[in-house]
Amino acid sequence: MKAVRIETTGGPEVLRLVDVPRPVPGAGEILIAQEAVGLNFIDTYQRSGLYPVKLPSGLGLEGAGVVEAVGEGVTRFRPGDRAAYCTGPLGAYAEAHAVPAGRAVRVPDGITSELAAAGLLKGLTAQFLLRSCHAVQPGETILVHAAAGGVGLILCQWAKALGATVIGTAGSEAKAALAREHGCDHVILYRREDVAARVR
Ligand SMILES: NC(=O)c1ccc[n+]([C@@H]2O[C@H](COP(=O)([O-])OP(=O)(O)OC[C@H]3O[C@@H](n4cnc5c(N)ncnc54)[C@H](OP(=O)(O)O)[C@@H]3O)[C@@H](O)[C@H]2O)c1
Repeated sequence: MKAVRIETTGGPEVLRLVDVPRPVPGAGEILIAQEAVGLNFIDTYQRSGLYPVKLPSGLGLEGAGVVEAVGEGVTRFRPGDRAAYCTGPLGAYAEAHAVPAGRAVRVPDGITSELAAAGLLKGLTAQFLLRSCHAVQPGETILVHAAAGGVGLILCQWAKALGATVIGTAGSEAKAALAREHGCDHVILYRREDVAARVR
């Protein structure tokens, strides 16, 4: 199969598209025939060497597709199921990837693989912020920095659905409009306004 590998760290030029054996899922793993993979900032940190990885290495931690095979002991998935993951292991930039079944989730009908691969980590980030760090209650007010970013747009929609009043910061009028469209009640243009004063 085709996969991206790096043998040294550096700029995008260190990415190599190579032929490698299709993985065989080990005990507790599922092999996903990938339809989409997520690209995230951490990929560039690992590629550049800012976050050290053992070389040679694959890249990419997020992906989604169809389960092609399951390893010994896997009961949660069967071949043909749709699955996604977002916490590695490294090597998502590949036609297929073997991941621990415990790190994968089922992808429901109606959610494309592109959306699952791109949105799962952002969604989980929003989930822990809104439900675990503090369980946001109706009537509470929350402040979302980078409200028009990938995580911010999910936070705004989810917090609004929970009944919170959402204050967001954004860097431009266009981003402010986007945040408002996604449930942000009050947007602070932090480049020209005093955020603390506006929040108060
Ligand atoms: N994406 C993930 O899966 C994920 C997972 C865990 C944690 N996080 C964290 O969540 C935060 C938002 O991530 P994201 O994926 O939503 O990012 P994003 O979509 O790339 O949005 C980032 C936004 O942050 C704002 N920003 C403010 N100061 C900045 C600066 N000095 N440099 C760059 N951007 C700046 C910019 O919006 P304005 O111009 O509107 O301010 C920028 O568009 C980050 O701190 C990230 O590390 C992300």
